[in-house]
Amino acid sequence: MKFSTTGLFSAALVATFFFTGCKPSGSAGGDTIKIGEFASLTGTEATFGISSHEGTLMAIEEINAAGGLLGKKLELLTEDDQSKAGEAATVVNKLISRDGVIAILGEVASSRSLEAAPICQQNKIPMISPSSTNPDVTKTGDCIFRVCFIDKFQAFVLANFATKTLQSKRIAVFTDVKSDYSKGLAKFFKEKYRDNGGEIVSELDYNGNDKDFKAQLTSIKAANPDCIFVPGYYTAAALICVQAKQLGITVPLFGGDGWESEKLTEIGGDAVEGNYFSTHYSPEVATDVSKKFVENFAKRWPGQKLDALAACGYDSALVLADAIKRAGTTDSAKVRAAIAATKDFQAVTGKISINENRDASKSAVILKVVGGKFKYLETVEP
Ligand code: PHE
Repeated sequence: MKFSTTGLFSAALVATFFFTGCKPSGSAGGDTIKIGEFASLTGTEATFGISSHEGTLMAIEEINAAGGLLGKKLELLTEDDQSKAGEAATVVNKLISRDGVIAILGEVASSRSLEAAPICQQNKIPMISPSSTNPDVTKTGDCIFRVCFIDKFQAFVLANFATKTLQSKRIAVFTDVKSDYSKGLAKFFKEKYRDNGGEIVSELDYNGNDKDFKAQLTSIKAANPDCIFVPGYYTAAALICVQAKQLGITVPLFGGDGWESEKLTEIGGDAVEGNYFSTHYSPEVATDVSKKFVENFAKRWPGQKLDALAACGYDSALVLADAIKRAGTTDSAKVRAAIAATKDFQAVTGKISINENRDASKSAVILKVVGGKFKYLETVEP
């Protein structure tokens, strides 16, 4: 599925194109700056892609409403990778070879960013991931960037949270072996948690699409941990909370940014209440840029939940636009160099400076599920 927009259409029209997958006629033409986006608009991680896309598109529309860049409008060409392994490579190839995009925004999930990154690198097309946190993503090469922190830092935040806030001494770690994100976060977490003096009493695995976690949870319960770390994505995390509750497990469960979805509470209900996760942004942290973003998001996407994914998507597009402006050209090599030189860019999720590894060093927030909502607890600086 593909749709393209310069943000000149009404929300209703955009929604129609989104669902029918039609390309609006008259939007293309040679006089736009084409930017590619790949996202999981459908499939198991659909809420990631949809939220991220809403933020990204809103940024593009705002830039266009303010006159565009270098005298041209931006055109966002969005491809759905259906949350599937293999699809990310296919759609990113299309965006580069068929559509001739000058840069690519995406993905959320690290495994899919890792799949697309070598293609962008080979073609020398800059790619900016809004929210993939696995350190290896940007190691692919000098064209690959991200506007978020990496899992070494996220793991550090979570391990300290477990040790200090939850007073944990005996933990169980339950990892999705199909996800590079989950495996990386689990690895860094275990290192730091042990450094803090804690003991890992159970280490078990699941496969991303599993629905039944009872066998592993029974064994976790027998190990008697004082909390359970689940570095996975929201669907499995919610089901794990539900089944843990059914098995009489009462200790807190917590995760990383992968828990962030309205589906977490939809699927998890009561069972996710009182649990925690770390992420990139909370609308409750009201900087001026963030307040404006919250206001505009509510107008642009009425009824849609605003989350860190949308904020990171928005920031990824703004960082790219800022780089194009500074480069003064759409030449990919010059745009690449301008992205690399990003310094103290005031974004919704915080100040973004791209470091020598092409990552952003930024603070994390910890949220708690209270009354079906995500309540801001604290900010942790790098
Ligand atoms: N950081 C996750 C990954 O790398 C993706 C994610 C980002 C999920 C932000 C939720 C919120 O796979």
